[in-house]
Amino acid sequence: MMINAENTQPLKKKTKALCFFVAEKSEEPFGLPKIDAKLLAAVKQSAKETKGKRGSIHIIHTHGLIPAEKIILAGLGHIHKITHETVRVSSGNVAKKIRDLGMGEFSIVLPDKFPIKVDSAASAIVEGVSLSQYSFDKYKKEKTPALQNISILVSDQAKISHHVSKARTVSESVNFARSIANLPPNECAPAHMAGFAKSLAAKNKLKCAVLSKNELRQKGFGGITAVGQGSKNEPKMIILEYNGKKDEAPTVLVGKAVTFDTGGISIKPAEKMDEMKFDKCGGCTVLGVMKAVSELKLPVNVIGIIPSVENMPGGESYRPGDIIKMYGGSTAEIHNTDAEGRLILSDALSYGVKTYKPKAILDFATLTGACIVALGANVAGLVSNNNGIVSKVKKSSDRTGEEVWQLPLNDDYMDMIKSDNADIKNVGTGRAAGAITAAAFLANAVGTVPWAHFDIAGTAWIQTGSKEKSYNPKGATGFGVRLVVDYLS
Ligand code: BES
Ligand code: MN
Ligand code: ZN
Repeated sequence: MMINAENTQPLKKKTKALCFFVAEKSEEPFGLPKIDAKLLAAVKQSAKETKGKRGSIHIIHTHGLIPAEKIILAGLGHIHKITHETVRVSSGNVAKKIRDLGMGEFSIVLPDKFPIKVDSAASAIVEGVSLSQYSFDKYKKEKTPALQNISILVSDQAKISHHVSKARTVSESVNFARSIANLPPNECAPAHMAGFAKSLAAKNKLKCAVLSKNELRQKGFGGITAVGQGSKNEPKMIILEYNGKKDEAPTVLVGKAVTFDTGGISIKPAEKMDEMKFDKCGGCTVLGVMKAVSELKLPVNVIGIIPSVENMPGGESYRPGDIIKMYGGSTAEIHNTDAEGRLILSDALSYGVKTYKPKAILDFATLTGACIVALGANVAGLVSNNNGIVSKVKKSSDRTGEEVWQLPLNDDYMDMIKSDNADIKNVGTGRAAGAITAAAFLANAVGTVPWAHFDIAGTAWIQTGSKEKSYNPKGATGFGVRLVVDYLS
């Protein structure tokens, strides 16, 4: 699929479908040029019928009155409520419709007079279209047909082509993250994760190191070693380095990559256990960001650390009651082997802090069911020890439409993970504040380094039965890639 901006006049464009955005209760779509009276009447009539409602789509046949075969009206909702997210969702809707109708291409009109800035609106169109077209059909005989060409018709192509190409790179990186996250657990064990990281590194000139099970044990990664010991698929820790700037402390990104989470000895119920292949989504987010920053050649230093394990029950598994020593030096008592994410993340965070002296450390993890209970499927939990980071993250969240909501973390929560027999334990007190007590465990590993934790349990994939956004098709969403690339930019 190719998506580009071009200067062509809408009425001169030979295309299967010429798409205009329209606001609610407006009869005049944005950027509609002077057209034949009959066609104009039809357009106005359609706009009236759909009322420009958010998400609405209307198709008008042009009967050869203009070079475009059809005109499509895409509703954006109330004019004062039009945001980048509205444009992203609407563009995704249009692209899906075009594909469902078996048309391979379309053009979309983006005039200078538009409710939001044209360059960032163009980015939102590119994201909506590219992300909506992703489909995980690797294991199906029948493949989803792809769109060939999409043109964004603008007045000044030179001014926005850079934005279009950046949005294209970012969207491809999101789709890359999705394509790994969607893999079944029998085809994506920790060693596969390491393989994907290595081939990305080779292609994009990143440094890459992978620590093996023995190295992890020898170097004192007690959390990763314990969680990984129950599976014959050995644990790995992946480290990727991107250097875009000399002499500057890096930002470290850590992503949970549990390739399958059965719960271990504290085994999960059977219902929806298949979805626990998505427990590697945090790690995939980090891979997606590393791809994007290296292709965009951002002038920053970024380290990606991905602890990867399979959490399985068996004769070798770690157990409730075990006391393990974490990489950071604390001892942790295991109360539930299903609270494995915090154990592998804690090791990786401590390693990141100690090895790289980062200016900031961000982690991404499908960490707790409690976060879904609290915030649902569209908003990620955010926990931090630093207000500066939080305000930067919120700005990137606003721009990208990847929503976050900050949860508190004070000493009362830290007390909830104190253990009778070790320094800390891997669960809180009962079920209270489950998303926060999980974060409290991580807070122990980062000390005073500015840190932001993203609990993406609800947002990392489209849960069975829940509603998908036009640009987030079924399966993994790649949540976080766009937000972090914006943050690093
Ligand atoms: N990977 C799960 C969290 C999860 C569950 C994410 C469902 C998305 C959907 C995590 O490892 C886990 O099992 N957490 C436990 C923690 C509990 C045992 C303290 C949970 O949330 O139940
Ligand atoms: Mn678990
Ligand atoms: Zn898990």
